Amino acid sequence: MPQTDLTLESLRSLCPSEHHSLLAHWDVLDASQRAGLAEQISQIDFEAIRREFGSQESSEQQFCDSSPLASLAEAPEAVRLSERTPELLAQAIQEGSRAIAAGQVAMVLVAGGQGTRLGFDQPKGMYSIGPVSGRTLFQMHVDSLRGAMKKFGVSIPLLVMTGPSTDRPTREYFAKHANLGLDDQELMIFEQGTMPAIDAKTGRILMESTSSIALSPDGHGGIVRALTKTGWFERAEQRGITHLFYAQVDNPLVRACDPLLIGLHRLAKSQATTQVVEKRFATEKVGNVVKLQGKTQIIEYSDLPEQLAKQTNSDGSLKLWAGNIAVHVFDVDFLQRCGQSSQALPFHRAHKAVRYVDEFGNTHVPEKPNAIKLERFVFDLLPAASKSLVVESLATESFAPVKNAIGSASDTPETCKAALVNLHRGWLRNAGVRVDDGCSVEIHPMWAWDEQEVRARIQQPASLHSDTFFT
Ligand code: UTP
Repeated sequence: MPQTDLTLESLRSLCPSEHHSLLAHWDVLDASQRAGLAEQISQIDFEAIRREFGSQESSEQQFCDSSPLASLAEAPEAVRLSERTPELLAQAIQEGSRAIAAGQVAMVLVAGGQGTRLGFDQPKGMYSIGPVSGRTLFQMHVDSLRGAMKKFGVSIPLLVMTGPSTDRPTREYFAKHANLGLDDQELMIFEQGTMPAIDAKTGRILMESTSSIALSPDGHGGIVRALTKTGWFERAEQRGITHLFYAQVDNPLVRACDPLLIGLHRLAKSQATTQVVEKRFATEKVGNVVKLQGKTQIIEYSDLPEQLAKQTNSDGSLKLWAGNIAVHVFDVDFLQRCGQSSQALPFHRAHKAVRYVDEFGNTHVPEKPNAIKLERFVFDLLPAASKSLVVESLATESFAPVKNAIGSASDTPETCKAALVNLHRGWLRNAGVRVDDGCSVEIHPMWAWDEQEVRARIQQPASLHSDTFFT
C-alpha cells in the first residue's frame, strides 16, 4: 500500500470541497487515526460519486415504477428445459467436460456480503448447512469443486471474494481447516472494494466515527474491479484459463463448474451466460431475466411493477418467467476488458438507515433511511456482453439459497436443508435405494458427484431407515 501523504493540505486537495467535512475532526485525531483516515480517503473514487450524484440517470431510475422501460421487457431467448434434446445435452456436456479437463476453467465464489438477513455473526460461508453432516456452506462448495476435480482429473483454482467484514474470519477459517483440502496454490482469497455511504439530503459522504468513513462493500459486481487489482487476469491468461464459473456462497445446491452450463456457453460462443429457473409465482423475490432493447438484462423484483410481473401468455404461463439464481459463466477476456473501464458496470442505489457522526462529533442513529449506498451488481455484465446466453435449469437441482433466519417465510436454513435432502433422496431412489420418508440423506460429492455416479455406486437394492451421510 503506498504511503498516503498525511498533511491536511494534501488531503484537502484530494477531496472535492463538498466532502471536506471528512476532515472536520483532523485536529483531534492521533497519528494512527490520521493515517487510517488518510488511507480511506485515498481509496475513495470521488469521480464515480460525482458522476453518480451529478446525473439523473442512475441505474435504479432506469427501472423505477414510473419508467416506461420495464414495460418493454420481454421474455429472454433461452435454452429452455423443453428444448434440451439428448443430442444437445450430450454435445454440451462433452464440450464443457473437455474445457474443464483441459484446465481452462476456474471457479469464483462470492462471499463478501454482510449476510444481515440471516443474523449469523460470522461470515455466511461458515454457517453449518449439511443436513446430516453439518458441513458449512464453504465446505459444501469446496467439496463440490473437489468432486469436479476428481471427475475431470484436473486441478481447478478457486477464488473466494470476501468483503471488509468477512475477509479476516474467512482467511482464518480456511487456514485453520487446511484450506478445506485445497492446495495453497489453487486457493486465492481476495477482498472486494467498498463505497462510502452518502447523506441522501446533502450528497456528502458520511462518517462512521470521527476518524473513519461509513463504508460498505461495493456489491458483488465489485468482483471485476477487485480481480483486476489482484492481477489475476494476467495469471489466468498465462495458465490458459478462459472461463470463470461464478457462484454465490449462499446457494449450496449449485454444481461447481457444471459442464453442461460451460458447454452450452462455449457452443453458443457466449461471453456471459446465466442459469435461470422458472419463477414459482409472478412476484417471487428473484431478479427477472428479460430481454430489453435487444439485450439480456435483469430487472430486480423491486423494480418491476406488479402488473408487469403478472402478465401471462395465452396458455396462462408467466410472460416474464425467468428468475435469476446468480450462477454464471464468464469469458475471462471479457471480464478483463470490463475491468479496464471504470464505468463498465453501473451503480445501483439502496436507501438505508446509516448511523453516523456529524462534523460536531454528535452521533446520529436514524430510524428511517437517511443515506444512499452504492453497489454494483454482477448481472449487469450480461447487457455489457456482445453475446450472452440464458439457460434454464430446475430449481430442485440448482437453487436453494440461505438468505433469511430460521423460522422466516422463505429461503431459510430449513428450506435449504430440505432441498438438499430431496435432491439426494431422489438420486438414491432412482438408483434403487428405498429411503424412508422421514429419513435425511446427504451425499458427499467425492462419493458421488451426480445421479449417474450414485447409480454406479449402488450395486444392489438397499433400504435406508436412518439419517445417512454418504461419504
Ligand atoms: P445478497 O445480496 O443476498 O447479500 O448477496 P448478503 O450479504 O448475502 O445478505 P443480506 O442481503 O445482507 O442479508 C448474494 C451473494 O453475493 C455476495 C454475498 O456474499 C452472497 O454470496 N455479495 C453480496 C458479495 O460478495 N459482495 C457484496 O457486496 C454483496
